[in-house]
Amino acid sequence: MESRPRHYFFFLVLLLPASLSSSSNPNPRRAYPRNLFRSAESLIRDLNLLPGIQQLGAEIEVKDPLSPRLVERRLDLRILGESGSEIPVEQLGHHAGYYRLEHTHAAKMFYFFFESRGSSSDPVVIWLSGGPGCSSELALFYENGPFKIADNMSLIWNDYGWDKVSNIIFVDQPTGTGFSYSTDIRDLRYGEKGVSDDLYDFLQAFFKEHSHFLKNDFYITGESYAGHYIPAAAERIYRGNKEKEGLQLNLKGFAIGNGLTDPAIQYGAYADYALEMGIISQRAHTSITKIYPLCELGIKLCGSSGVISCAASYVVCNSIFTSILLLAGNINYYDIRKECEGSLCYDFSNMEKFLNQDSVRNALGVGNRKFVSCSPLVYEAMVTDWMKNFEVGIPALLEDGIQLLIYAGEYDLICNWLGNVRWVNSMEWSGSQLFNEAPLAPFTVDSKEAGVLKTSGPLSFLKMLDAGHMVPMDQPKAALEMLRRWMKGSLIEEQYITAAAVM
Ligand SMILES: *[C@@H]1O[C@H](CO)[C@@H](O)[C@H](O)[C@H]1NC(C)=O
Repeated sequence: MESRPRHYFFFLVLLLPASLSSSSNPNPRRAYPRNLFRSAESLIRDLNLLPGIQQLGAEIEVKDPLSPRLVERRLDLRILGESGSEIPVEQLGHHAGYYRLEHTHAAKMFYFFFESRGSSSDPVVIWLSGGPGCSSELALFYENGPFKIADNMSLIWNDYGWDKVSNIIFVDQPTGTGFSYSTDIRDLRYGEKGVSDDLYDFLQAFFKEHSHFLKNDFYITGESYAGHYIPAAAERIYRGNKEKEGLQLNLKGFAIGNGLTDPAIQYGAYADYALEMGIISQRAHTSITKIYPLCELGIKLCGSSGVISCAASYVVCNSIFTSILLLAGNINYYDIRKECEGSLCYDFSNMEKFLNQDSVRNALGVGNRKFVSCSPLVYEAMVTDWMKNFEVGIPALLEDGIQLLIYAGEYDLICNWLGNVRWVNSMEWSGSQLFNEAPLAPFTVDSKEAGVLKTSGPLSFLKMLDAGHMVPMDQPKAALEMLRRWMKGSLIEEQYITAAAVM
């Protein structure tokens, strides 16, 4: 889940009228870049002040350097219904654990690990939710985990959990997200370098603990702001393998669902998508599009190492998004067919209710830590990371044959398919021409068209029909099929290799 940009009323008032007033009109508002930089600076100052917060949501613990870094416990959850597996339920390995992160002061990373309902030789998959700062338990319980939560707090098997075809890890990251925490504020992460280093350390410890899975294929998956996390993690692992830093991780591919990866292109697509879907008028499109050059310039200044310009471009660029929302009414920006209800536009309250029960907390070993779906602190810390481009590291991975699947539900606005297909098409790598010439093919599930696919060599793009931002929630069966076929290298069916379809 990518959280809706905060502060937006403030920025809207500050910026939108300024940016919309044409530059040929000499009025006092021409001073707006100065205001902009001042607000960006204050945003960053706020982050360093962190009034009243001395720790990342946890009680003080006595540090014991001799205690094991990774503490995992087996879960014995009562799950209603049929697992659909030949493996007896008692033998299905369900685990939850904490890893005391190396290279931090006192951070602990929380994760779930569900062994496959299929076979232990199935690939290992890690799932990362976005936010930044939203817990991967959102996906676990509402998208692709082994079970769902009923209104009476019972767990029920999910017929389309991704654990049917993989050994799957759901991890709360960066530090401060979900049940992951630190007692030391210095462990807060401000960008992908720190985030991916932590994740790499976690994976090293995980595979050391579960060494019999080390030979399995390994895939990184996730959604939304994980469009930043995933390429950064893939690059980090690739580098670790190359430099023989630790255990060789058998990275075969990475998949991003409705992600934010290349902001310059994706912010340019908002107005076009909104117009195409009929949620704004042509006139609104024309005036919103006028904000884009300043947004694009800010992203350029931000580059890969900027600070103030990154916060400034975050402000300007998100005014494009929030102007569309103002005009579109109370739409759910994760699924424009729906209305926005609740703080995340969906009602996920059962999850917090479930995870805050004493019996559950005891089973998970999370102590008194209160579970929060999305952390505002983690979100705000990542404000200078937001506009950075994570497409840049991908070509090197593709050249080495690592698979990449970009998929997107067609009704999502916030990380819409149009912006995603544009960056995928314009990415430069040795196979880009072949990819651009590849015919579109239907992605069929149960002989029904569930998506439109374009694939060539290691790269695939899949537009998922009848789905919003959270594809495995809206199209659970098609999403499971997508994962299964992609990991087998047979995303495209034989008969469609030369056929064409319309995207
Ligand atoms: C809870 O809800 C599930 C699904 O609706 C149902 O199967 C189960 O019997 C309920 N359990 C109790 C204790 O009411």
